[in-house]
Amino acid sequence: MITTTGLTKVYRSRGRDITALDGVDLHVREGEVFGVIGRSGAGKSSLIRCVNLLERPTSGSVVVDGTDLTALAGRGNRAGKELRRARSRIGMVFQHFNLLSSRTVRDNVELPLEILGVSGAERSRRALELLDLVGLADKARAYPAQLSGGQKQRVGIARALAGDPKVLLSDEATSALDPETTRSVLQLLRDLNRELGLTVLLITHEMDVVKTVCDSAALMRRGRIVESGTVGELLATPGSELARELFPVTGDASGPDRTVLDVTFHGDAATQPVISQLSRTYNIDISILGAAMDTVGGRQIGRMRIELPGGYETNVVPVGFLREQGLQVDVVDDDAPASVPVRSNAARGAALVKETVK
Ligand SMILES: Nc1ncnc2c1ncn2[C@@H]1O[C@H](COP(=O)(O)OP(=O)(O)OP(=O)(O)O)[C@@H](O)[C@H]1O
Ligand SMILES: [Mg+2]
Repeated sequence: MITTTGLTKVYRSRGRDITALDGVDLHVREGEVFGVIGRSGAGKSSLIRCVNLLERPTSGSVVVDGTDLTALAGRGNRAGKELRRARSRIGMVFQHFNLLSSRTVRDNVELPLEILGVSGAERSRRALELLDLVGLADKARAYPAQLSGGQKQRVGIARALAGDPKVLLSDEATSALDPETTRSVLQLLRDLNRELGLTVLLITHEMDVVKTVCDSAALMRRGRIVESGTVGELLATPGSELARELFPVTGDASGPDRTVLDVTFHGDAATQPVISQLSRTYNIDISILGAAMDTVGGRQIGRMRIELPGGYETNVVPVGFLREQGLQVDVVDDDAPASVPVRSNAARGAALVKETVK
């Protein structure tokens, strides 16, 4: 539904070039909720602003619902009209709501319809319908200042839906809200995604947001996407930073000369007594340093951090045994705690490849 290819954005600021996007290939499937996560300055807002051409990309292409927006931008009048039409099918929700304080809630929702030239009666009918959809039918005559943060964001969402979009973009829509309000706004986005078949691309720096609503996710760093996939794929990818952050387990080695492993269980593997089998088969003592069960992306998953005596070389065979049982085994670096990945993904991937035992 959304595909960016080789997208770059270079800002020129005080004579200096700042590369905010450095060749982003993003693919968001129709009907999914896709989360982009990354630290401050990673380029998340630049990406979302380039997707609806609020910001003109420096190079690369953006295709939304089959229309190449980048090809339409900057061409003649007819293309401009087409671009405006395509953009009206992309709703946008902002962190700070961006409501007009002098207009009532209903008039705020009507604004995009005014711009689209919809007649007064129809505008008003549609705005009330949308306010009902976001649970604010009784606030139509209120002004933004009379609303809570969560209510303002619901108005923001209703306004974003006015053009009957197929795609909703959300830039940190919940980061100005408290945890409970965040949950209810995320639930609303999820419901809209399911009920209207809306494709949602959301930007966040909170892993919890990804965990709660996203089907797929990507991790951005320095203008690039360094990992991406469905939540299920990510969790099944050895060494995935996103998976580790989505589902952290902690626990430090009890001393030197130990091998610490993160063992991830999905589906059937979760019911097999593999740890006791491992202990009996190889006659080794195993300590459990940490463990957690959780639902991530709607899937039940378990993770355990265990410790085996001896360095990695002495444990190659037991690690192989665990993998043969269908478990995902990540060897934990002594100086890399599970929840704070310190190595770059490439370095980590290389290290894991070296460690893989067949
Ligand atoms: N209009 C602009 N002019 C110049 N530089 C900009 C502009 N907008 C963003 N940048 C720079 O581009 C880089 C990426 O910024 P961006 O706002 O996309 O990051 P972000 O991931 O959204 O961060 P945050 O989590 O803080 O919102 C940063 O170095 C930022 O300073
Ligand atoms: Mg931002």
